[in-house]
Amino acid sequence: MVSIRDRFPIFKSKIYMNSCSQGALSIDVQDAYANYLRDWDEKGAPWEYWGQQNEAARHAFAGLVNAEPNEVAVTTSLSAGVSALASALDFSGERNKVVISDFEFPTVAQIWHAQEARGAKVVHVPAAGNIIPLSRFADAIDEQTLIVSISHVCFRNGTMLDIQAIIEMAHAKGALVLVDSYQALGTTPIDVKKLKVDFLAGGVLKYLLASAGLAYLYVRKELLADLKPTAMGWFSQANIFAMDIYANTPHPTARRFESGTPPVPNTYAAVAGIKLVQQVGVENIERQLKVLTGALKEGIMKRGFNLMSPVDPAKHGAMITVRSHKVDLLTKWLANDGIIVSHRDDNLRISPHFYNDLHDVDCVIDGLSKYRELMV
Ligand SMILES: Cc1ncc(COP(=O)(O)O)c(C=O)c1O
Repeated sequence: MVSIRDRFPIFKSKIYMNSCSQGALSIDVQDAYANYLRDWDEKGAPWEYWGQQNEAARHAFAGLVNAEPNEVAVTTSLSAGVSALASALDFSGERNKVVISDFEFPTVAQIWHAQEARGAKVVHVPAAGNIIPLSRFADAIDEQTLIVSISHVCFRNGTMLDIQAIIEMAHAKGALVLVDSYQALGTTPIDVKKLKVDFLAGGVLKYLLASAGLAYLYVRKELLADLKPTAMGWFSQANIFAMDIYANTPHPTARRFESGTPPVPNTYAAVAGIKLVQQVGVENIERQLKVLTGALKEGIMKRGFNLMSPVDPAKHGAMITVRSHKVDLLTKWLANDGIIVSHRDDNLRISPHFYNDLHDVDCVIDGLSKYRELMV
């Protein structure tokens, strides 16, 4: 039997620890793309079948986060889903405040700031070093808050927010909550029903092991009827094939947050990627990541390097970051040695997944030691 690591050909030649940026390519996802081309060639223009593929991608995500498929919009990027959501919110009343954390991915912050033209008042919750104390959210969230928008795991330093506590805090003030779970999906169990979150966005590029061009927006079903996006398209209509040019009739489900022609090739890849994650099991993945990230942190601290992620395992996700004053050069030199990682700000981002092992961790730590002069 082929071991799970053997399903990722890159490990024949490289130590790949860059899943926060892009998951490693599996033979399953390679086959999925080949199947798309085969179907196109053999069937011509099988749009009915491709519609079913889109539904399979919707169901795969719904299964992963315990949503109902009707609560999931399939989008081409996280930005597209969040923009459609923002377009459905009304900032003209007294409740016009958007509370965002300073750990947001730029796209999310930019989308909320774009709503200032529509009356939104955006308030940032500042970080204290590599964490954001809950008290700072408590200070920012009030009766004027329409929505709280938080990143589950920060793309800069790997810090994981206590999203459950923030959701409860926001709901107590009557505010909605959007969680950007892009950096957490596939690494830790996420149950939208248990969390009671209103909106959750993410994509398949990273720990869900598929490729660019496919993302999701979960919308709690009780909210759907009252949310009427103005960012629309024919695939967000109640009946796509009505071809109505005299009216806009949004679909009753979360499909109303979709737009134009779906990213068909990527739906094949998404189904294959999420299937792999489900086969391994998200709880198993989380357990293994605790071991790998624990070993990374220990190696970094033992060698005297500057750990930028929190030490507490409850406060970080799958990504561990370490400071370098020449981080672009360090990333390049490590890549020349066959070690693939990435960087943001002055942080080198080391992001294992279930396909990594402790030998990979040793190789990365030895690689950092080799370039000790860059590690300040
Ligand atoms: C936390 C987070 N949110 C959002 C994005 C970007 O999403 P998209 O490009 O699909 O809009 C990324 C991608 O790196 C991310 O890490």
